[in-house]
Amino acid sequence: MFDKDIKRSFEVQMPTTLPSISIVSSYMVENKALLAWVERVALMCQPDRIVWCDGSKEENDRLCTEMVAQGKLLRLNPDKRPNSYLAWSDPTDVARVEDRTFICSKDKESVGPTNNWMEPAVAKEKLVDLFTGSMKGRTMYVVPFSMGPLGSPLSHIGVEITDSPYVVVSMRTMTRMGKGAVESLGREGQFVPCLHSVGMPLQQGQPDVSWPCNRDTKYIVHFPETREIWSYGSGYGGNALLGKKCFALRIASTMGKEEGWLAEHMLIMGVESPEGQKKYFAAAFPSACGKTNLAMLIPPKALKGWKVTTVGDDIAWIKPGKDGRFYAINPESGYFGVAPGTSEKTNPNAIKTMKENCIFTNVALTRDGDVWWEGMTDQEPEELLDWQGKQWKPGCGRPAAHPNARFTVSTTQCPSLDENWDNPQGVPISAFIFGGRRCTTIPLVTEAFSWMHGIYMAATMGSETTAAAEGQLGHVRRDPMAMLPFSGYHMGAYFSHWLKMGDKATKQPKIFCVNWFLKGTKGEFLWPGFGENMRVIKWMFDRIEGKVGAKKEALGWIPTYGDMDFAGLETVSQSDFDKLVKVDKNLWNQELDLHTELFDSLKEQLPQQFYVQQKALKAAIAEGR
Ligand code: GTP
Ligand code: SPV
Ligand code: MN
Repeated sequence: MFDKDIKRSFEVQMPTTLPSISIVSSYMVENKALLAWVERVALMCQPDRIVWCDGSKEENDRLCTEMVAQGKLLRLNPDKRPNSYLAWSDPTDVARVEDRTFICSKDKESVGPTNNWMEPAVAKEKLVDLFTGSMKGRTMYVVPFSMGPLGSPLSHIGVEITDSPYVVVSMRTMTRMGKGAVESLGREGQFVPCLHSVGMPLQQGQPDVSWPCNRDTKYIVHFPETREIWSYGSGYGGNALLGKKCFALRIASTMGKEEGWLAEHMLIMGVESPEGQKKYFAAAFPSACGKTNLAMLIPPKALKGWKVTTVGDDIAWIKPGKDGRFYAINPESGYFGVAPGTSEKTNPNAIKTMKENCIFTNVALTRDGDVWWEGMTDQEPEELLDWQGKQWKPGCGRPAAHPNARFTVSTTQCPSLDENWDNPQGVPISAFIFGGRRCTTIPLVTEAFSWMHGIYMAATMGSETTAAAEGQLGHVRRDPMAMLPFSGYHMGAYFSHWLKMGDKATKQPKIFCVNWFLKGTKGEFLWPGFGENMRVIKWMFDRIEGKVGAKKEALGWIPTYGDMDFAGLETVSQSDFDKLVKVDKNLWNQELDLHTELFDSLKEQLPQQFYVQQKALKAAIAEGR
């Protein structure tokens, strides 16, 4: 009888023997669909044991202790870094794998040219093949979680099945994980099934490795119509913590398109003026381009009385409210942040956030049992074990930490955490910010003339690629709204959805574009960045209030030197500033060609208004307006 059910649900041939599996659970599950799914997956994956995770501290501590004993985690020196661990991944499993990521909608055209596609039935067949017996010799963990505060009208439930205890403890930090999510699901509630295996079954007696994964075969697969995720072969980050990019961005973006909301690769920050006025900003930057930094910004002392608070650092779910404003929640409850470059100077709040109860992945180990990475301190330690466990000395020619090394830590430890960070209603958004990593072409800041103009600028954004994804480093690619790797459907339709959402908001947020990464002739950054970005944020805040000026230029409203508050910052002179806001005609003519290239690739579903915008922009650039 089981076999028939299994065949029906996976629509392909399944194994016919029922393995005997021990089941560990400390709570009742009444959701029949969930029970049935777990049973089907167990039959397919054939683990030794099933553990239903409750999300308790005891469970977490037990798993960490087990992983330490198995050499999967290293306990850091408790005097230096209380209750914290270090994981070193397999050297081939260090970032998201975009070329192994698929969106399997029925209709190929609906995913667009920026996503990989497979026919759903073909993908299922392949995956069932791979997952059959994939958990042999391992424990299968059932990890129920809520994206968003439990019970919020903006939240959604997922359940991840994984054979990686590292994923379990990471999901406990990154999401509201455990019994509460199952209770919130109730008997009939719907959940997004997220199936994950590291793809390395163990034969009887075969010893495990410290970071199991499948070096040859990886598949990160999404089925938007049935709202399912299947991920095979990787244990790292967005490939494996399925609540994050797979659910909260790729699946959620398709849910949002159908239901009238937005799932975005955005931080959410609160900004308070010296007069005590508060506004919330949501800002999209591609991976490893400064979201965590901006979300936790500490304003320079000279900007007295200004304060920034953190709602989220990576993902925002945004819905129009009854009052005509957009309301945003951070669906996560932890940070999975880039470690290299994070220091007391660049992000003191992040440094404080990770002082305890933290899992570090692919950073270096100091002699006294603490962690280190490039940029953490001015002085390099004399000796380290690098992220592959090898002896490291300054000047040895290898980085000590992998450039995409990360820290995983709970939001609740962040000193700048916003008082509304888990408000079930979300926070009202006053402005959207879009920014890429560009050493030329894009000015420090521009304000869009209108919603349509802002969406055009955000949609045509480019950025230099970073170590957050596998592949070529540092070349400029179009990354519309920082969502290129994360939209679950056609980018053209995604732009239309943004335009439609703008119509729903009677109080449309302003749209700004920024670039912190302009470089001079010697490769030096032209803008001091980090905390000093507050000067740009303050200008935006005052623009929303109508309190400060700007000059109308081809790309939008741009501040003059006098419009910015440079109090206490001697390093940026008027002529430096001119370089930061310069619009170079030649570079912009090249840039416009790249817009055309993007539009050509998306033409089947591109909003027609984009061509009108492009024509106006072309004319404005030509006239040097
Ligand atoms: P994901 O977690 O991958 O989505 O990325 P993120 O956008 O949160 O990245 P994060 O904030 O961790 O960015 C890290 C990188 O951006 C590091 O290399 C930082 O040094 C750099 N960075 C952040 N802010 C600034 C800035 O204002 N100026 C400059 N020059 N670099 C910055
Ligand atoms: C990103 O790459 O944008 C991240 C890290 O936030 S991961 O979760 O690995 O995708
Ligand atoms: Mn991200």
